[in-house]
Amino acid sequence: MEILNGFETSSVQRAVYLLKSGELVAFPTETVYGLGADAFNPYAVAKIFETKGRPRFDPLIVHIDTKEWLDKIAVEIPDKAKKLIEKFWPGPMTLILKKSNIIPDIVTSGLPTVGIRMPSHPVAKNLIKELRRPIAAPSANPFGYVSPTKAIHVANMLKNKIKLILDGGDSVYGIESTIISFQKEHVFINRHGAISLEEIQEVVGEVKDKKEITGTYESPGMMPYHYSPEKPLKIVNSPEEIDKKNSAFLAFKTPLKPVLSKYVRVLSEKGDLKEAASNFFSHLIELDQRDVEIIYAERVPEKGLGRAIMERLKKASKKYNVITH
Ligand code: TXA
Ligand code: MG
Repeated sequence: MEILNGFETSSVQRAVYLLKSGELVAFPTETVYGLGADAFNPYAVAKIFETKGRPRFDPLIVHIDTKEWLDKIAVEIPDKAKKLIEKFWPGPMTLILKKSNIIPDIVTSGLPTVGIRMPSHPVAKNLIKELRRPIAAPSANPFGYVSPTKAIHVANMLKNKIKLILDGGDSVYGIESTIISFQKEHVFINRHGAISLEEIQEVVGEVKDKKEITGTYESPGMMPYHYSPEKPLKIVNSPEEIDKKNSAFLAFKTPLKPVLSKYVRVLSEKGDLKEAASNFFSHLIELDQRDVEIIYAERVPEKGLGRAIMERLKKASKKYNVITH
């Protein structure tokens, strides 16, 4: 497996060659690293599912570099989707739209809709441009595990399962895109992510939380056990609740008193939610590698990007039923 500097032309050329040959390439985006395949090559897309150990019923996001692609792969785009596109693309927002028939069924797991995103990371943009086709890509982690925000995370997680990782530095948002879907004139958030609910409401008015409305996750990828470290994870309201020394603590802000845990990582010294989100996965991966029994994670306020953090923490904690909400 090679790791090449994604900002160099020769690296992108190598990646394009591999993608055209039906291979997978991991590449940086502003949210997390993606594991990409040529979206129009069903055999290549099938490799994504094998490599990640991902169930075939969990659809992929298609990454594009221009609006021309949007008009080719989506149909009946709602006005509110257009408004959101004007405001947030390129950037960390995925829209679930009715698909046209040029998207192979394996990409969408047979659904009549397709998830589409126009990333802003220069390496991702350049890769799609040079390939001249959209790239289907999930986050570049084994199914159910924490998403990678650095090239080295991908290298450790996927070992020699892929030929090439393009290194584009640390993902600036550090948390996945916000996923939005539409039904008639209504707008839903399917997954909280790097753009907050409040920012979306500013553009389209009322937005509903898909899970709160339907009581269920729209797609299998929204299953409760996502984003989980290998170690059990427990959410705590404050460091005082920590009762095991052989533990790691993912603190939201700098703790005011000494903490019982052997290892402590602080998401944001001053408690800034944007900074906390950007450090979330990388700190969690680091603590998961420590020799501890359990990871405690401090609850963060459920507003702004705090919703995205809490959504992931709750899923991670549910895996072991240490705490349920
Ligand atoms: O930031 C991101 O979104 C990253 C980067 C690489 O773009 N990608 C990412 O992909 O997080 P993934 O596959 O890890 O998560 C995509 C989620 C899955 O939970 C999937 O179920 C959902 O999007 N999804 C994709 N297509 C869908 C569709 N047509 N309908 C409903 N949900 C869909
Ligand atoms: Mg993922």
